[in-house]
Amino acid sequence: MSVTLDDIKARESRHVLQTYRRQPVAFVRGRGAHLYDVDGREYLDFVSGIGVTSLGHAHPGLSAAIADQAATLIHTSNLYFHPFQAEAAARLAQLSKLPRAFFCNSGTEAVEACLKFARRYWYTQGITGRTSFVAVEGGFSGRTLGALSVTHDEHYRAPFAPLLEATFVDPARPEALLAAVTDKTAAVIAEPIQGEGGIRPMSPAFADAVNEACARTGTLYIADEVQSGLGRTGYPFHYQALGLRPDLISVGKALGGGLPVGAALVSERVAQAVSPGDHGSTYGGNLLGTRAAAFVLEQLLTGGLLEHVRAVGAHLERRLRALALQHPAIVEVRGAGLMRGLQLAVDAAPIIDTARERGLLVNRTDEKVVRLLPPLNVQAAEIDRGIDLLEAVFASVPLEVQV
Ligand SMILES: Cc1ncc(COP(=O)(O)O)c(C=O)c1O
Repeated sequence: MSVTLDDIKARESRHVLQTYRRQPVAFVRGRGAHLYDVDGREYLDFVSGIGVTSLGHAHPGLSAAIADQAATLIHTSNLYFHPFQAEAAARLAQLSKLPRAFFCNSGTEAVEACLKFARRYWYTQGITGRTSFVAVEGGFSGRTLGALSVTHDEHYRAPFAPLLEATFVDPARPEALLAAVTDKTAAVIAEPIQGEGGIRPMSPAFADAVNEACARTGTLYIADEVQSGLGRTGYPFHYQALGLRPDLISVGKALGGGLPVGAALVSERVAQAVSPGDHGSTYGGNLLGTRAAAFVLEQLLTGGLLEHVRAVGAHLERRLRALALQHPAIVEVRGAGLMRGLQLAVDAAPIIDTARERGLLVNRTDEKVVRLLPPLNVQAAEIDRGIDLLEAVFASVPLEVQV
């Protein structure tokens, strides 16, 4: 018996808490950069589950590793050892240059862990007043109460106040960051490229200010690399492109290749402050998740993926810049590698909807931004097909631009 989109919608509307505005399509199968809906229609997927399925859908090696592990042993808890946490953690250390990992199950939990470890660091030093955070306007770090406290959007925050104490600074004003970071600041948290905020790269001047403010006051820097990390921009982590010096890195999304795996990566000085019992997770770091993560990380370390992302990412950028020249509604092309955004002068929703109707999945963020996050192993020919489709969409959708 085949299920229809209408059946699914009707059942969800009765039984699923309505926290999401879904697009009218239901997917049942995927392969590489392609998804297939309930009617068997094919889509080119330049969303990748919001930067999660970075090896593409149904990757043969990842699927085999997950299937083998699922048939062997999925979970035992953190009461006992198993082989895969250390394997994934060692690879994360190689890629991130931070020596230790704490495993959890999502991006927001990774941020939550970073915020806690930062406070734990100051507590261990015997300093009790360093509890507040400095974050960035436009930043998004998740939905749990700690991560929400350092997420800027008032619309997300207001219903859940009071939150942790955080000051938000304008990323165009490095001097504002220098003034905001004091000897009361536990940590600065900032994404090297803002994802949900509209694919906005941190400027080199702001990165210098983060380094300077943290060095001057001893404040910790948390690089939120949930979206920009793990090869997405052609670097293992994007902080490396900016010369930032994080004490903590939050990782999620791509880490499990689709399984819910997150991690907080910590420097040795922060690690020294954390003791057994300070933090934990029942599921975090289980065999299934960390075996998948170890596989994904191995592809980054030895699979030639970073070089591939740089090459196809440059090709994608060239195609997007050419597209922007033809359409006054596109006012800026931003991003790095395979994390790209088109800033429009108008709402991006009609572009997203028409693209989907024509078989291309892209996504809207910050209302006027078309976000592209193809899988890291996307081929140049697939990029060309996607941008050809996008060109046709821009040519066919009337966009009212006031000039
Ligand atoms: C930079 C960043 N941090 C944290 C999160 C939260 O991750 P999750 O949705 O897995 O909790 C996101 C999600 O989009 C993100 O982009």
